[in-house]
This record gives sequence, C-alpha cells and structure tokens, in this order.
Amino acid sequence: MPPSGTSPTNPPSHLPPYLPQNAAERFRTDIPSPARAWNYWLGGKDNYEIDRAIGDATAAINPEVITIARQSRLFLIRVVQYLVAEAKIRNFLDIGSGLPTQSNTHEIAQQIIPEARVVYVDNDPMVLAHARALLRGTTPEGVTDYLDADYHHPGQILEEAANVLNFNQPIAVMFMGVLGFCQDYETARRIVADTMAGVPSGSHLVLWDCTDTSEAAKRSTETYAESGTLPYHLRSVEHVDAFFDGLERIEPGTVSITQWRPDPAQGGTPDHVNGYGAVARKP
Ligand SMILES: C[S@@+](CC[C@H](N)C(=O)[O-])C[C@H]1O[C@@H](n2cnc3c(N)ncnc32)[C@H](O)[C@@H]1O
Repeated sequence: MPPSGTSPTNPPSHLPPYLPQNAAERFRTDIPSPARAWNYWLGGKDNYEIDRAIGDATAAINPEVITIARQSRLFLIRVVQYLVAEAKIRNFLDIGSGLPTQSNTHEIAQQIIPEARVVYVDNDPMVLAHARALLRGTTPEGVTDYLDADYHHPGQILEEAANVLNFNQPIAVMFMGVLGFCQDYETARRIVADTMAGVPSGSHLVLWDCTDTSEAAKRSTETYAESGTLPYHLRSVEHVDAFFDGLERIEPGTVSITQWRPDPAQGGTPDHVNGYGAVARKP
C-alpha cells in the first residue's frame, strides 16, 4: 500500500503520473497486478519487477500463457473487425480492457468506421493511470472514453457508459480474458446476464477465458495465486459456452480462440490454445 499520509499534492514516488488519490489507495506494488502481469506477457513495459517475477514463474510452468496473451489480441482484432464490418456494430463496451497495448479496440473499430464509439472499463489503478495513452488515436468523428469501475457493478457501468455510447443502437459487450478473475462462476454468469439485459436487441457478447483443458495451466494458476495477486479461475469449455445461453451464437460457436475465423493474414496461428471464446447476438 502507499505510505500513510500521502496527499494528492504529494504522491509517493513509485506511483505513475495522473493517478487520482482514490486510485492511489488501491495501488499495490508489493503484490503483482493482473493488468500489469498481462502487459508483461504481451511484451509491454507498464509493469514492475514483482509482475515480471510472477509472469516468468507462471510462464516457466505453462509457457503457453504467453501464446494465449498474444493470440487473444489477434482474436480481439478479428472479432472487432467482424463486429464492425459484418454485424454493423458502432458501439463497444470493453470491460476489463487492460493496459494500452497494440491494436486497442477503438483503433481497430475506428479504422473501419471512424465514428465508432468505445468505452473501456477496468478497476486496476495502473490502467486508470494510463487511460490517456489508452484513448490516444481516437478519430475526430469517434468517441473513446474510460471508466474506472468494477464489473461486479453492471448497473453502474451501463449507466455511465450511456453517457458515451448510443443505447438506441446495438452494443458489443466485451469480456476478454477477464471473468476468470471472478471466483464464483454463477456470479460471473450473473454479471454477464445483467450486463446483456441492459443493452438493446442486436447487441453482441464477446467473451473468452482460459480453460481447464491443460494440466500445465492448472499448475500455473496455483503458482499465480500463491503470489498474493487476484487469483484466476480456469473454466471448463462447457462453462465458457454457457455464458452465451439465451443468445444466438455466431459461427463457429465456442472454440479455441485461434479457431475463431482465423485470418491467414495474421501469420502462423497455433491450431489450439487453452483459451476458449465465442461471439453471440442478443435476439
Ligand atoms: C488478463 S487482463 C485482459 C486485458 C484485456 N481484456 C485484453 O484482452 O488484453 C484482465 C483485465 O481484467 C481486469 N479486471 C479484473 N477484475 C476486474 C473487475 N472486477 N472489474 C474490472 N476489471 C477487472 C484487470 O485489471 C485486467 O486489466
């Protein structure tokens, strides 16, 4: 925790710039952060020694975690391209956005349709601190915004997102590798259901999570949890698929993310990784 007596005018030196005081209280450098460790696996620089240490320890047990991180970004690119170009979606709610990286959602969407509107949500103070960088590159016609919020509060997220997104049009709700941080599966399902209940017909759900389909993944999540960070809970493929119940699954349904409409232009893609996801339309 930051030292006591910290004031907004005198932030501790280890904090990133632009961090409001309420977020400074949540900022931890003594334990790894999921957003910063993910940034490390993605090859980013917005992480600390403690994040790199758990990143390396986890990857030593399960080297695929790095492949999954990088393949998940390619999956995000393909999905957003599909949503904009084929499903004609213009509004994106990317929940658990993570730190700014290459090919962020607004960049992919606004490249195709400059007026696309995007709201990012995350509850990690490091992501908040870097929100300005996350929003960089927004087109003059488009809007991109950031909410510092916890996905356990879908009502708050929907209410605040409505200040930016057009809720008279379909919205793409994205949970990309984030619901494994919700310990209880039924709670995670309720979060998805409550969020989807608040968006109009024609909206889409995009979701993927790491699955319990590999022994190395199971062992590495134990090591990850022992670091004191927020633990990640692997789901079964059936549980990932059930998040989409009540929605119309878009072909090819729930698959390993590398199998979701692979694009040869993205280069060599592994046939299978232990992360499954899908895209589905709200009737
Ligand atoms: C594995 S990273 C994925 C980042 C990004 N979605 C991507 O695909 O690259 C998980 C993200 O979920 C965020 N997260 C975890 N629990 C959350 C919660 N309760 N509310 C909002 N964000 C959360 C973390 O801060 C982190 O940025």
